[in-house]
Amino acid sequence: MTERTTVAIVGAGPAGLLLGHILAAGGVPFVIVENRSREHVLSRIRAGVLEQSSVDVLDRFGLAERLHAEGLVHGGIHLQVEGRRFHVDFEHLVGRTVTVYGQQQVVLDLMRRHDELGSPVYYGASEVTPADVDGEDPHLRFGIDGEQHDLAARFVVGADGYHGVCRTVIPADVLQPAERAYDCAWLGVLADVAPSTEEIIYALHPDGFAMHSMRSPSVSRLYLQVDPGVDLADWSDERIWTALQERLGSPGWTLTPGPITEKSITPMRSSVARTLAYGRLFLAGDAGHIVPPTGAKGLNAALADVTLLGDALVAAAAGSESALASYSARALARQWKIQYFSQWMTDMLHIPGPSAPPEERDFRYRSRVGQLDFVTTSRFAQQTLAEQYTGLAIA
Ligand code: FAD
Ligand code: DHB
Repeated sequence: MTERTTVAIVGAGPAGLLLGHILAAGGVPFVIVENRSREHVLSRIRAGVLEQSSVDVLDRFGLAERLHAEGLVHGGIHLQVEGRRFHVDFEHLVGRTVTVYGQQQVVLDLMRRHDELGSPVYYGASEVTPADVDGEDPHLRFGIDGEQHDLAARFVVGADGYHGVCRTVIPADVLQPAERAYDCAWLGVLADVAPSTEEIIYALHPDGFAMHSMRSPSVSRLYLQVDPGVDLADWSDERIWTALQERLGSPGWTLTPGPITEKSITPMRSSVARTLAYGRLFLAGDAGHIVPPTGAKGLNAALADVTLLGDALVAAAAGSESALASYSARALARQWKIQYFSQWMTDMLHIPGPSAPPEERDFRYRSRVGQLDFVTTSRFAQQTLAEQYTGLAIA
């Protein structure tokens, strides 16, 4: 089957789905092609914090109705060190907030609106293959239920994540990602229990980092720093709750455990492609860059990229390609600020794992206690954190 569109979008994650809405609002034809089933896409538990800038973008396209009804607005976060808990008050410091609303919910809202609009979104596509993206006649080839599709497009967008196909069609000497590996990972759990805190707690402990977040008034999301190679089978629910209790412990406060409904390990890595543009192919979101999760920037960066790219593609479809020509440079300039912040948060709140020499762990722990003592007593440091956590402008 041969089809033609203006923008072929690979991937129906938050980046691909939002880009579809921006193009729909601008009257630009598009097709979204996703290799997993819709149910699978909706079942992935990932990020949960939306910057003010992300909420603003979803508002701009009328996609935030349920988010405003069900999302939890947080005016700050807690930083904890040596059992002392300190509230960083974003509203007071920078007059901005963040909203706790699961990535799955964002994706569901974006999918439902595409259903209402009757948008062309293919799920369960096989062998998705971008072709001729560096020429004048780009194509996307894929199979649906055994039928071969050949989609011709003016532009192809790779919104297919870090393990997607689009970044692999860019020659290695052009993509040239700058990377950093981290010596730790996160064990994340979802639990059917009311959160024991009103706002997110980020805690540094001699055993490593722990975090208490949430998804709703009755569902908690918690994370523990673990070594990258650990086996989930070694982490029973009881062991997880004991470690969380220990690392998040603070005088006069108790953590209420509950049934764990999901467990997973997230490795940590930073990677930023040298360019997000190759011929008629543009990368957005995780396809172009990933950050360690501390500070919750991955999802927000993906939404920011497609805001820039969507506006540029709408202008390009109307005949002006100058914004598209500068997309990669503008998105990467913003991305490197996000990389800096995510690295800063990660380094401040993690120590080397148990396999590191004890003297190195001790030094790193002590220096991070010093750093947290500084941040929790300096208004300037808190303002810097608040400005970045609530989200840089998308411009
Ligand atoms: P994705 O959400 O990855 O979407 C890409 C889509 O493309 C997927 O639906 C995928 O199935 C599809 N796809 C892949 N290959 C192909 C192909 N060949 N053809 C067609 N479609 C394809 N961020 C945080 O801020 N906080 C967190 O706690 C957090 N936890 C995370 C946990 C995990 C396990 C992972 C992987 C990421 C996590 N992130 C977190 C990062 C955040 O979820 C991502 O930054 C965000 O999902 C990026 O959105 P995206 O649309 O760019 O990519
Ligand atoms: C969550 C994830 C993060 O990476 C973070 O910094 C804060 C909260 C979450 O999943 O709720």
